[in-house]
Amino acid sequence: MTTAAAHAKVIVTGEHAVVYGFGAVSVPVRSLACEVSIDPSPDGLTTFLADAFPGRYLAGAAQDHPLAFLEELLAWLLTEELPKWGVLLEQRPPLTISVRSQIPIGSGLGSSAAILVAATRGLFAHFGVHPPDREIQRLAHAAEMGVHGRSSGLDVATAVSDAPLYYTTGCPARVLNVGTPFHLLVSLSGLPSFTRKVVLDIRQQRERQPERIAAVFAEIGALSRQAAVAIEQGDLAALGDLMNRNHSLLTQLGVSCPELDRLVHAGNAAGALGSKLTGAGRGGCALALVDAGRLEAVRQALLDAGATDVYDLAVASRSVPAGAPSLQTAAP
Ligand code: PMV
Repeated sequence: MTTAAAHAKVIVTGEHAVVYGFGAVSVPVRSLACEVSIDPSPDGLTTFLADAFPGRYLAGAAQDHPLAFLEELLAWLLTEELPKWGVLLEQRPPLTISVRSQIPIGSGLGSSAAILVAATRGLFAHFGVHPPDREIQRLAHAAEMGVHGRSSGLDVATAVSDAPLYYTTGCPARVLNVGTPFHLLVSLSGLPSFTRKVVLDIRQQRERQPERIAAVFAEIGALSRQAAVAIEQGDLAALGDLMNRNHSLLTQLGVSCPELDRLVHAGNAAGALGSKLTGAGRGGCALALVDAGRLEAVRQALLDAGATDVYDLAVASRSVPAGAPSLQTAAP
């Protein structure tokens, strides 16, 4: 058996604008991991399994199955990418590909990017090839374009990073040194977020109202640059303000919803330094930047405001490895 892993992410500032070339700030969530294992198939059939979905999915059986993107990834890597590394196969070997993931699906935490990174790493490793992370990132980003239609690559860059990033598509991500360690409370709204759909909707809005959307993106881009500086300088008050401003700009884009707004307002009312939605939006998660002394009060306020779960993400220059207790699941 060959096994490979990757982890979740949160976007601190800059989602959506990052798809159009502006910078964004992200933080890896190494204690929410996914693992993909690859085995030779016992029965000659290629099958896909995931702990999130019952049963096994036979290759070619259902194009709209949630794991169908893994089948496309497998076919592409076997026919086009692995041969570049000297893996030339006369026939496609039947494989069993299993996904185990702690990352909530459709929650803006980068679940599909983490699965693509882990599956790409695992498939290469299965054939004895170990490309550097930047190559895994390039391949997983190309595959993600198929899943999300258009993608900045921020999710896969963060899924291979163990430190906060300032990211702009097409440039090497800049690792951020964290001036003062801080906490983000990640609250799940319980509503699914459909990244592909929301990204497409923003693209259509941009076609209809290019000047309005360009102005919003430019503001988001500027505040992401300031957020990177605030993180490096340890200026958490400034970072909180920037998160609040980012949330109102995302609201202007129409990607918030009453459930996310409730979490944002409840967090701030309970003493968070700033709050915003994170990821594509219209569901998924909100983030609250919280001083250590206010963690319990804000966590309780988020649960009272309808969060189905709250994670405490402790952010330092190198985030804490998977399984460490810095990111805990709160009691529902
Ligand atoms: O919803 P998520 O976790 O897939 O994040 C999407 C982030 C976007 O900026 C909306 C899209 C992208 O490709 O960066």
